[in-house]
Amino acid sequence: MNLVDSYGRKVDYLRISITDTCNLNCTYCSPPFSGRAHLQRAEILSYEELTILAESAVAAGISKIRITGGEPLVRRGAVDFCRMLSGIDGLADLSLTTNGIRLAELAGPLFDAGVRRLNVSLDTLRRDRFATITGRDGLDRVLAGIGRAEAIGFDPIKINTVVMRGVNHDEVAELAGWTCKKPYQVRFIELMPFQNGTGTPHRELYMPIREIMSLIPGINCSRIGQADTSSGPARLCVLPGAIGKVGFIAPLSWHFCGSCNRLRLTADGKIRTCLFSQTEIDLKTPLRNGAAKKELIDIFRDAVQTKSQGHRLNENAFQCSSKRGMYAIGG
Ligand code: GTP
Ligand code: 5AD
Repeated sequence: MNLVDSYGRKVDYLRISITDTCNLNCTYCSPPFSGRAHLQRAEILSYEELTILAESAVAAGISKIRITGGEPLVRRGAVDFCRMLSGIDGLADLSLTTNGIRLAELAGPLFDAGVRRLNVSLDTLRRDRFATITGRDGLDRVLAGIGRAEAIGFDPIKINTVVMRGVNHDEVAELAGWTCKKPYQVRFIELMPFQNGTGTPHRELYMPIREIMSLIPGINCSRIGQADTSSGPARLCVLPGAIGKVGFIAPLSWHFCGSCNRLRLTADGKIRTCLFSQTEIDLKTPLRNGAAKKELIDIFRDAVQTKSQGHRLNENAFQCSSKRGMYAIGG
């Protein structure tokens, strides 16, 4: 079954946020604690409920699911939930995005539960800077988690680095150089304008992707590939002699809405058809009112038809209109 939206895009990828809490407090992702509204426990769907929705999504045409948060590995039972999902007939790909803090202990169980692809957020290789960006002295744990995931056989391991001017842009070359020693895909991401806790306007921190690329010695820009479904929104290239890859994700400079294949499900059961959606489609109410599977499948199908052509950030001076913070959407 194919899910095709009104612009002819095939939608086959669902990102499920299982919690809006996180064990880090990254400046670019979360507003300060006082500005954060967390979901009440009763609003959050149980794993059984999420599994029913995931099965409905797969029956509607989804073949790839990514688990996100907040930080998904802080929710108790996340590994068992992955096992429940990997048993769904028709699901070809199960992946997870994590900040890596709990990865050293959970990489093995996640692999056993059927997760094969991991994306790990890491913006710096400096311990003090890590603590400044995330609010926690956790760099060693994240590096140990990545090492453990590699040893266990996760492939690919993608590292997400959000580049911020004056915060970590001076580490771009070093992080890219990591791919000469490690088989990772290190992806540099343009900062998106979500409400956050930096206290600095987006325009001052934002660094366009061309400028980020120019910080990497030896990079051959003409060899940078197009984004495709296997690399997600990243355009990839290989540095001379490298065993890993460097990737660039530029939601503002080169937005990838034309090839967007995604839907999102929030922890409280709302479908978002775009990362920047202003409206959401409620699945929790029909689910809790006992809707039949067929009805849930139809809600997914109808939602896909409302997917917008693209985000309007570039027209709005990089203003983000989403009412939910990034921490509650999961990227
Ligand atoms: P795969 O393609 O499955 O590897 O996933 P991914 O690279 O999309 O996942 P990940 O969670 O690692 O996201 C990487 C970056 O891309 C994050 O900064 C996300 O916020 C951003 N991103 C993911 N999906 C979208 C999207 O639909 N629109 C925009 N603008 N950014 C996105
Ligand atoms: N801009 C760009 N990427 C962001 N992420 C979180 N907040 C932002 C933002 N404002 C990324 C993190 C994480 C992914 C899920 O989303 O780096 O890896």
